[in-house]
Amino acid sequence: MTVKGTFPTDVFQSIETPFYYYDTNVLRATLDLLKKEADRYRFKVHYALKANAEQRILSIIHGYGLGADCVSGGEIKAAIQAGFPASKIVFAGVGKADWEINLALDYSIFCFNVESIPELLVINELAAAKGKVAHVAIRVNPNVKADTHHYITTGTAENKFGIALSDLDKVIDVAQSASNIKLIGLHFHIGSQIMEMNNFAGLCSRLNELQDQLEARGVFLEHINVGGGLGIDYHNPDRQSIPDFANYFATFKRMLKLREGQTLHFEPGRSIVGQCGSLISKVLYVKEGVNRQFAIVDGGMTELIRPALYQAYHQIENISSEESIQKYDVVGPICESSDTFGKEVELNQTKRGDFIAIRSAGAYGQIMASQYNLRRLPNAVFSEDLI
Ligand code: LLP
Repeated sequence: MTVKGTFPTDVFQSIETPFYYYDTNVLRATLDLLKKEADRYRFKVHYALKANAEQRILSIIHGYGLGADCVSGGEIKAAIQAGFPASKIVFAGVGKADWEINLALDYSIFCFNVESIPELLVINELAAAKGKVAHVAIRVNPNVKADTHHYITTGTAENKFGIALSDLDKVIDVAQSASNIKLIGLHFHIGSQIMEMNNFAGLCSRLNELQDQLEARGVFLEHINVGGGLGIDYHNPDRQSIPDFANYFATFKRMLKLREGQTLHFEPGRSIVGQCGSLISKVLYVKEGVNRQFAIVDGGMTELIRPALYQAYHQIENISSEESIQKYDVVGPICESSDTFGKEVELNQTKRGDFIAIRSAGAYGQIMASQYNLRRLPNAVFSEDLI
């Protein structure tokens, strides 16, 4: 079998492109380390389905005993279908529809992460109609900056997410006096693709202050959920294919003063699935421009929107060629100029029919695909099925 890097390019010949290729060895190795490091401190991990909700990926993750972080009724259904127990499902989101709240109540999920007083009152009402008590954590906007793209920072004051620190006392009072709500925790999330442990340390300091204030008011909450956000190395997917979970969890262990009897929860998405996936496309044409050459591939922003939407960098490789390096603008077939995966990308000399791998695409790749231009949604191919 011809293999370049970790790609079985021979086998790819018989698969229709573009498709997502998932290296399940990378996924399992990532989960092994995550589990080991989280268990060390008895931290609870809920996988954020929004990063990738392929059933096979979900069932592998479920096999490691993780819980699920869902942001829609669809994700709750997918999690349940993959075997995640409802008792380990958290449900977040600023705009939960009534049917989604009802679905979550019917399953008696572990916790609703609530983002406003009106939402709290609706959950209380719907729970009362079913004769149930909804477990709730209040999502607090900690006003902590995260060094990441402004589209994916969520924890600062001008953001739509969470409840402002200044309103927290009021919201706690409302939650504690609602008959069909049991307030069990606080929830935070400062952003995504965060590489600086200092940002998480900043969240811990804010949380410590907050806990002191709550303690002074006689409020004790059993669960603290610090969200997700740990980043991955998009520039060197092979050098560090598994994120530094040891350092990540140790930062919280060191910085956060948990109270007696409190459990700490996490909601990682990208750091679990990001590096195991690549978008595989075929080169349709190599076109000579005025002062550049274009490699036009059959995958586009419809399959992977991150470069177009966030100017995100993904490493691009020609996995069919060993020829000398040349520079190409790698572009897709969609009728939008932003349908460009990379400019002046160094690739082994490229010709029609070569396979191009766009790396680190396991998170927010396939799940964000669209049918714009009436294109087909991409399929998923798993390494363990090809052997
Ligand atoms: N928890 C909450 C409340 C979140 O909002 C998110 C992500 C996560 C957990 C998971 O974060 P992660 O561990 O994956 O960083 N589409 C964007 C990312 C959007 C992230 C939204 N929230 C991208 O492609 O970069």
